[in-house]
Amino acid sequence: GSGYETRLRVWRGDAGSGGLQDFTVEVHDGEVVLDIIHRLQATQAPDLAVRWNCKAGKCGSCSAEIDGKPRLMCMTRMSLFEPGQTITVTPLRTFPVVRDLVTDVGFNYQKAREIPSFVPPEGVGPGEYRMRQEDVSRSQEFRKCIECFLCQDVCHVVRDHEENKPAFAGPRFLMRMAELDMHPLDEADREGLDRARAVQEDHGLGFCNITKCCTEVCPESIHITDNALIPMKERAADRKYDPLVWLGNTIRRR
Ligand code: SF4
Ligand code: F3S
Ligand code: FES
Repeated sequence: GSGYETRLRVWRGDAGSGGLQDFTVEVHDGEVVLDIIHRLQATQAPDLAVRWNCKAGKCGSCSAEIDGKPRLMCMTRMSLFEPGQTITVTPLRTFPVVRDLVTDVGFNYQKAREIPSFVPPEGVGPGEYRMRQEDVSRSQEFRKCIECFLCQDVCHVVRDHEENKPAFAGPRFLMRMAELDMHPLDEADREGLDRARAVQEDHGLGFCNITKCCTEVCPESIHITDNALIPMKERAADRKYDPLVWLGNTIRRR
């Protein structure tokens, strides 16, 4: 195949300081941005820090921002850019930099721990669970998540608002709450947990104003907003303004 040279602008530095550095790197047909970063490492910047693993869009490690857009480096084809164009690669903006393109995504693990886990049905052992196919399919979409945290990175609620982080789980974990709330066998209520109420009050669903940026960047094309966040907002609203409760109160007041 034919080759050409591309101009690459890469953020280099650590938690203390850093900046953009320019390089010129060779590109071959069929390559992705991660290939170019690896070539840069091999030829000019041996100490460049970058996280990656599968090179197949499945491990969620190689998340970065390419021309300011959150993307998987291994799934971003170089053919997307004009050969003369300068490509800028920077670390995820929402999380603290460790070094170069590597960020500390610990925020997400913290949020994962805060989501109350599945409460199995009483007296039914694993392997004895029975569910309708449509319920299985619904949660199957959410379980395609590769935990790349691109959605967590792009959401404006936390992207430039460090102060919102403690109160907001982020789209990936609001979606996890939705998955559990829609699970026909989850018996969280037995433990006094109303997931629809909790997602609103404890995990910050109210911060989400449905901009859908999370859905746009998801490499697994999960309909985060339409299939998880909006249904959860509706359920949370139902809890607050439950028409039967309202009717009951109205009748009692007469
Ligand atoms: Fe990545 Fe999509 Fe999972 Fe978010 S929901 S972490 S964008 S795979
Ligand atoms: Fe954020 Fe997605 Fe809502 S980007 S505002 S969580 S729709
Ligand atoms: Fe695994 Fe890119 S290296 S998703």
